[in-house]
Amino acid sequence: MVRTIGVLTGGGDCPGLNAVIRAVVKAASADHQLRVVGILDGYAGLVEGRARPLTDADVSGILPRGGTILGTSNRDDPFRYATPNPDGSTAVTDRSDDALRQIERLGIEGLVIIGGDGTLSIAQKLSVRGVPIVGVPKTIDNDLAATDVTFGFDSALAVATDAVDRLHTTAESHHRVMVLEVMGRYAGWIALRAGIAGGGDIILIPEIPYDAHNVCHAARKRLERGKRFSIVVVAEGAAPVGGKMVVQRAVAGSPDPIRLGGVGQAIAQHVEPCAGLESRVTVLGHLQRGGSPTPFDRWLATRFGVAAVELLIEGRAGRMVCLKGQRIESVELSAAVSQLRRVAPTGDEVQVARAVGTSFGD
Ligand code: F6P
Repeated sequence: MVRTIGVLTGGGDCPGLNAVIRAVVKAASADHQLRVVGILDGYAGLVEGRARPLTDADVSGILPRGGTILGTSNRDDPFRYATPNPDGSTAVTDRSDDALRQIERLGIEGLVIIGGDGTLSIAQKLSVRGVPIVGVPKTIDNDLAATDVTFGFDSALAVATDAVDRLHTTAESHHRVMVLEVMGRYAGWIALRAGIAGGGDIILIPEIPYDAHNVCHAARKRLERGKRFSIVVVAEGAAPVGGKMVVQRAVAGSPDPIRLGGVGQAIAQHVEPCAGLESRVTVLGHLQRGGSPTPFDRWLATRFGVAAVELLIEGRAGRMVCLKGQRIESVELSAAVSQLRRVAPTGDEVQVARAVGTSFGD
């Protein structure tokens, strides 16, 4: 019988995390009279035993708030935990035993872990060590294969689409090529959907390598048809044919070893002289991860949170909740993290974009 549930948010923040936390606390305490403990700052809090009780009062009013009231971290893997040495160097050790001890000390009999592929891969390893865990998929990148959609994606998409709309006015007025660089890591979902929704003229995604000459050609073709501007929506992970993604820098201690960024600038520098149109770049960055979740993300996050509690109560740990069509279902945690969901280069969404004249630079 589960009496105490822990909840942890890991990886990059995104809109809807608080909505899940709220749903977990409400479903656990009101319906089942369970105690809920919030682990602070992701896996760091688990290893170090930093946690606080969560009551109904603690989650009051957090549904529309972005971020996470628990704090998060996209490092601090308990299995490869970095601790600073007195001489300034870093020692990387396996602290998973400490995490297990803290779970026991806190009396946690079931743990809801909310995160993307990095966080859930660690959750899977803890689950193998005997911790009853249910995963909840979050990420603005929407790149987990086991769920039709992750929460956070819809909110990021709304921000990116609004940015495309706003860039249109300057593009038209100044006759420019406006390049919008969006996030998404190795998947092009944000760029593709925001590009379609905002009427972007050129969409560049990691799944379809581009040729810079074709990008330029697309802008020039528009010019010939009297369209004296173009909007390029480029995913941070897009790369030229035979080339590499643009990496801002390496990130030590993170499951994601590189920070992407800069491809927008590269595109603009090429297109400006060859299309004969002034170009400007907007890097949307963390604006995509901030602010209030959309109604869809609140709806999905709330359903996920309630389903996660139900699974723990039914003794069905080791699973991740997911959306299949309109239904909330669950999959084995191991299956949940084994495959990334990327845009199908010949899939119907890409075809739809092509049908309305969008170029993918290929
Ligand atoms: O995975 C979410 C995400 O926002 C990616 O789209 C992006 O590449 C990355 O995280 C940025 O991470 P950070 O917040 O560490 O810069």
